[in-house]
Amino acid sequence: MNQSSGSKPSSAEVAKQLEFHLEKQDALCNAIEDIADTLPDDIDPQRCLRLAMSVLPLVHAAHRFEEEILFDTLREVNGQDSQLDQIFERLHGEHFEDESFAEEISECLREIASGTQVNFEKAGYMMRGFFEGLRRHIAFERDHLLPMLVMTPKAS
Ligand SMILES: [Fe+2]
Repeated sequence: MNQSSGSKPSSAEVAKQLEFHLEKQDALCNAIEDIADTLPDDIDPQRCLRLAMSVLPLVHAAHRFEEEILFDTLREVNGQDSQLDQIFERLHGEHFEDESFAEEISECLREIASGTQVNFEKAGYMMRGFFEGLRRHIAFERDHLLPMLVMTPKAS
């Protein structure tokens, strides 16, 4: 679905892309944790601004890949499975929440970068909520979805 080349990527290719997106999100969590840990001291406005600009596009790209390519590939590899559909529904809900959270984080980082008066305790709390939730989400996908891609496809 949505493959411009017209050919579907193999499970191995999808696994590689998933690892790429998970690593990117891992690095994003680490970067946000780093900032949350150093608030309100050691503020690097340029770093906050870079992060503010990348947080939403980064999670959005991961979600698009998962929902347009990964989920379909897993359905093909595993066959029809209502449990799998429930998992995708839950992950879709988490994607939606994470994107609105990412927008708030981006806005907050912009404010910090521009020197606007910010409630640092609240900002740190919000950042922790974001990266802790995202890390749980990433761990689930790494532990449960990635192994499915290397399973032998079921005979139809
Ligand atoms: Fe995801």
